[in-house]
Amino acid sequence: MKRYLVIAVIPVILLIACGKEKKEVTFADVAPVIRENCMPCHRPGSAGPFSLISYDDMVRKAKTIVRVTQSGFMPPWPADPEYTHFAGERRLTEDQKELIRKWVEAGTPLGDTTLLSPPPHYPDGSMLGEPDLVVPFTDTIILPGDNDDHFFLVKVPFTTDQQRFIRTIEYIPGNKKLAHHMNANLIRYADGAKTNVFDGEKVIATDLTLTAESVNDRMKNKNDDGSYPVLVPLVCNYLPGVSPAIYPTGIGGYQINTTSAFFINDLHFGPSPVDTFEAGGYFNIFFMDTPPERPTYELLMGSLGETPVEPRLVIPANEIATFTTRYKVQDDMSLLTVNPHMHLLGKTFLAYALTPQQDTIRLIRIPEWDFRWQYFYTFQNPVHIPAGSEIIVEAGFDNTSDNPNNPYDPPRVIVERAHPWESMRTTNEMLQFIITYMPYRPGDEAIDLDHTSLNR
Ligand code: HEC
Repeated sequence: MKRYLVIAVIPVILLIACGKEKKEVTFADVAPVIRENCMPCHRPGSAGPFSLISYDDMVRKAKTIVRVTQSGFMPPWPADPEYTHFAGERRLTEDQKELIRKWVEAGTPLGDTTLLSPPPHYPDGSMLGEPDLVVPFTDTIILPGDNDDHFFLVKVPFTTDQQRFIRTIEYIPGNKKLAHHMNANLIRYADGAKTNVFDGEKVIATDLTLTAESVNDRMKNKNDDGSYPVLVPLVCNYLPGVSPAIYPTGIGGYQINTTSAFFINDLHFGPSPVDTFEAGGYFNIFFMDTPPERPTYELLMGSLGETPVEPRLVIPANEIATFTTRYKVQDDMSLLTVNPHMHLLGKTFLAYALTPQQDTIRLIRIPEWDFRWQYFYTFQNPVHIPAGSEIIVEAGFDNTSDNPNNPYDPPRVIVERAHPWESMRTTNEMLQFIITYMPYRPGDEAIDLDHTSLNR
């Protein structure tokens, strides 16, 4: 009897011992999580201030990594995953956060790295691959060291040998440290309509004297005969660490003729204490063989857009205030990508649709707005919004001194400006919701927008 007991006890002890052995978290366990969620930004030439690739990189920053992952500061992903999920979502699960914490607590052991695959390779000069055409910025932009934001309008002209179809466009800034965000439109000239697209000013610092007319004149954007060329809105948007949305083959894309220009209406650099400059930025263009089969469209709700902000965007000092903007859907839509936009006083953002039957379709919720991370969020599958629905945006602004980003101390009343370049200043406010969509077709809900690469 006694012998049986002993025999039974030994395996149990062994099991416990093995279990303990297994529980020690090592670099080999943590590395895959870091490579997927951190390395896209924390590698040479990307947005993060240091690399997180090697064991040494990780050990050097171990304590800070625990702090920023536990607090949710890193990886930056402001959208609430309890509300909706998006393609390319970068967010750690509670288990992954604990894994990192335990590894650091255990003294950052290396573990068995023989089974660990080498870190992913990123192509040089692109997040996506080998571009078909690279269009460089030719001018150097001086950025004074005055600790202030700086905004520019930029024209980047280019020509091609023949008509082409663009699948996607990627922007790579020269000054990766200060590049804050960039929105580019595409000017498409009819063949023969513009003799010299390289004429005119390329860079204009935004100020209040500018009008659309004066900008187009100074940049010489118009056709030779004085008429306006076609402007395709928002063909490329940049934010640190974010690769551009690529939709599956057949969705989206743009036609160009032989003469074109990017018109950047918002090139934004963050503050710097020392004089510096932007030089060497460029666009990567990826072509496709066939014309866009299902073109995509942009709907701009709110400030400067198609739907008014209600009540008028006036945020009293020392108050938290909520505003809405609503759009009545005329024809069935398939929503692909959404982009909430506010400035420093932004606090919360919620967007959803109400169908004629009063069903709610969730779009996005941002419980704690962060001015730095204004992603273009692509849904995992197109979201069908039936005709007759209303798309509703509810945004909260915090104009109290509890808001650490409040540019004014003491707080001042903030009144939305009517002038586009005035309202874009960080210290003023905007409420915008930009939607990329296509007219709905049955079956759109099944299209996989996640994991799309250039090969598909
Ligand atoms: C979208 C790009 C991006 C991703 C993804 C990202 N980071 Fe960062 N990270 C940054 C940038 C930019 C900064 C500098 C932030 C600043 O100065 O405000 C930063 C700063 C940090 C810091 C320094 C914070 C401090 O207070 O000093 C740490 C540590 C860090 N990141 C760790 C991580 C970890 C760990 C992950 C993955 C779990 C991650 N980051 C994912 C862009 C990114």
